[in-house]
Amino acid sequence: MFKLITHNRNKYLEMKKIIPSLEMLDMEYPEIQADTIEEVIDFALDHLGERIEGDFIIDDSGLFIHELNDFPGVYSAYIFKTLGNEGILKLLEGVDRRDATFKTVIGLRYKGENFKFIGLCHGKISKEARGKYGFGYDPIFIPERYSRTFAEMSTEEKNKVSHRGKAIRKLEAFLKRIGEI
Ligand code: IMP
Repeated sequence: MFKLITHNRNKYLEMKKIIPSLEMLDMEYPEIQADTIEEVIDFALDHLGERIEGDFIIDDSGLFIHELNDFPGVYSAYIFKTLGNEGILKLLEGVDRRDATFKTVIGLRYKGENFKFIGLCHGKISKEARGKYGFGYDPIFIPERYSRTFAEMSTEEKNKVSHRGKAIRKLEAFLKRIGEI
């Protein structure tokens, strides 16, 4: 039985669609300020690994807007809280090149060892916020080959193409290979 340590129930529900036996543990842990999501994950895995029993997973994600030199990237959580989607749309006012990449790194602590599973989703920032599903930047992100935002998609549809969907399917394949699910 694997548990996802997070405050974010939406992330849990997305992952649970792919790994139904997943459980959620709502618990605080330090997210260091670093240059990459991978470093944030490694630090948190070691920190939590010394404090809790058994195997667990964590998820750290970010939105990288190419025209803004990959901002907000590792600052995505802080920028969402301070500027929000309207703030991002303002920064991109009049900008035609709206390409962006969502990235998820899932960290797995398994028998005292760290593993990472990465998922990327390329797309564009919409001109206005649309849709009522999902969370965070979902209303302003349109994945490649779609015209709808993530917030206009069901969880299943988002999972098919999303950064988190890709990362969780890699984790699923790994857990199957080692006979854990
Ligand atoms: P974190 O992984 O919780 O640190 O996420 C960083 C920021 O990106 C937060 O503001 C999240 O709400 C947002 N975020 C993470 N994953 C997604 C997603 O799949 N869709 C939209 N926003 C996301």
